Amino acid sequence: MTWLITGGAGYIGAHVVRALRAAGEGAVVYDDLSTGIAERLPDDVPLVVGSTLDGRRLREVLTRHTVAGVVHLAAKKQVGESIDRPLLYYRENVEGLRVLLEAVTEARVPHFVFSSSAAVYGMPGTELVTEETPCAPMSPYGETKLAGEWLVRATGRATGLSTACLRYFNVAGAARPELADVGVSNLIPMVFEKLTENAPPRIFGDDYPTPDGTCVRDYIHVVDLADAHVAAARALTASPGRDLTLNVGRGEGVSVREMIDHINAVTGYARPPLTTPRRPGDPARVVASADRIAAELGWKARHDVQDMITSAWEGWVRLHPEAARV
Ligand code: WQD
Repeated sequence: MTWLITGGAGYIGAHVVRALRAAGEGAVVYDDLSTGIAERLPDDVPLVVGSTLDGRRLREVLTRHTVAGVVHLAAKKQVGESIDRPLLYYRENVEGLRVLLEAVTEARVPHFVFSSSAAVYGMPGTELVTEETPCAPMSPYGETKLAGEWLVRATGRATGLSTACLRYFNVAGAARPELADVGVSNLIPMVFEKLTENAPPRIFGDDYPTPDGTCVRDYIHVVDLADAHVAAARALTASPGRDLTLNVGRGEGVSVREMIDHINAVTGYARPPLTTPRRPGDPARVVASADRIAAELGWKARHDVQDMITSAWEGWVRLHPEAARV
């Protein structure tokens, strides 16, 4: 069975492609290479360069490769940028998805896995976030992910498309150094960057209502996340017409200060962090209940924070050899 992975040349996408191939599934990648890297892909996976706004090219690739399912990862994903450029985010993440769903419907593709985000919850204010926790996104990025879920589920109800919306929590780590995230827009690479500059890592606020005053998040290894996509794809093909919305997290919270302590231990640096003012829009705690994905897919995260930081650091040192200390 052939899956079309949009955004498959991205950090997460390349891991999903490899997991699908390792599971014996066929794969074709559709990516505009705006942030994707073609070299991330295995040689036996075709890459079609294009935008999800190009309905004609999408219909052509869906039919040419007899695509039986789509994993849609192509999107803009920087919260801060979405606040400055909301129309770009709504065009790429919502209109791009609408055009893709139109092509999927016309080509009668039966299965659709959608990359959603914990950002749909905004500031949940609960110990553990379940899929029933009210969604109140705090950024245009989070809004586009929630609107995307509405589009996907409505299309499923109207056409019989089987759908899975996967709400990613904080993704980190890499299967191998050359697949590491090259962006520096999340905690772990931002701390790496400071350590490499011999500057103190920053804690954006330590006056939150949490045990150590710093924000708590649910970090998930990208390899576990990729495996969740394979499990979702298999669940949809096993029971057509299914409609799943699932958190993808470990169900355990780790604070910013704890993460920085782990990073210092893994990297051999011992630079005390500098506390700066809060970053606007940061919730104190966002930690998943992972009960539903376990019940529906039999999936559970296998990697811990140590695995994530160690593999992310190996990827960082590959691109910044001057950073290696030990
Ligand atoms: C984590 C925590 C910061 C850097 C992410 C992604 C978003 C979405 C949801 C997928 C926060 C703190 C950070 C630093 C710090 N994922 N921090 N010092 O904001 O939880 O959202 O997950 O869709 O794409 O952005 O992740 O890594 O930006 O921050 O103190 O130098 O670390 O305040 O509490 P966030 P993040």
